[in-house]
Amino acid sequence: MGFLSNIFGNKESNSIPFNPLQVDMHSHLFPGIDDGVENYEESIKVISGLYALGYRKFIVTPHIMSDFYRNTPEVIRAKCEELRKVLKENNMDVAIEPAAEYYLDEEFEKKIGTKGLLSFGNNYVLVETNYMSPMHNFKEVMFKLKIEGYNPILAHPERYVYWYGEDFSKYEELYDIGILFQINISSLVGYYSGEAKMIAEKLIKNKMVNFLGTDIHGPKHLKPIQDAMKTKAFKAACELDLLNNSLL
Ligand SMILES: [Fe+2]
Repeated sequence: MGFLSNIFGNKESNSIPFNPLQVDMHSHLFPGIDDGVENYEESIKVISGLYALGYRKFIVTPHIMSDFYRNTPEVIRAKCEELRKVLKENNMDVAIEPAAEYYLDEEFEKKIGTKGLLSFGNNYVLVETNYMSPMHNFKEVMFKLKIEGYNPILAHPERYVYWYGEDFSKYEELYDIGILFQINISSLVGYYSGEAKMIAEKLIKNKMVNFLGTDIHGPKHLKPIQDAMKTKAFKAACELDLLNNSLL
């Protein structure tokens, strides 16, 4: 059925790396609703590739961003049902669950008190913020989420390079108030930038990582993820108390 087919090209890069993670909690696998996969063929390709790397469950997290992706929980749940059907037709025995990657904008702040956020596991809510400059009320929004009983997970903290100072104190401050950190696996091979790689490694060294995520948007991301799984930093991260498999 082509489930474990060679999708990585040459033999060397297709060697299966060490990966104890069975659950991915950050992905863009529903076609047509964000900048993730373009069609179901790509969804299948990506899920097959990650299955070959050991994954058995996917929390799918389409962007919700008021300026670009005005997705609602209803739309996302409907897409999840569609993909489940496609997976069944292809005899693929993997679990998928609908969630979201919320961009911290004013619309999001309005939703916090409505009990309407798409959460998963231990009432986790995956959030992302501005890449260019710090958001003035970031901590306040995180506290609001916690007061409402949500457990915020910050997606790819290593990509917010403006927080990096020589003493690393901004990251420590955020981690210490109970924001959970999810590093992107491909950051470990410098997929985003050298600085993001360095920050990701430092977060791992300081044991400030709760989840590792693929943040996969399409088949082109499979190779950097597979390569990153062969790094020492990935191995070190997997020795931390990661929460991925608590989501099984
Ligand atoms: Fe993402």
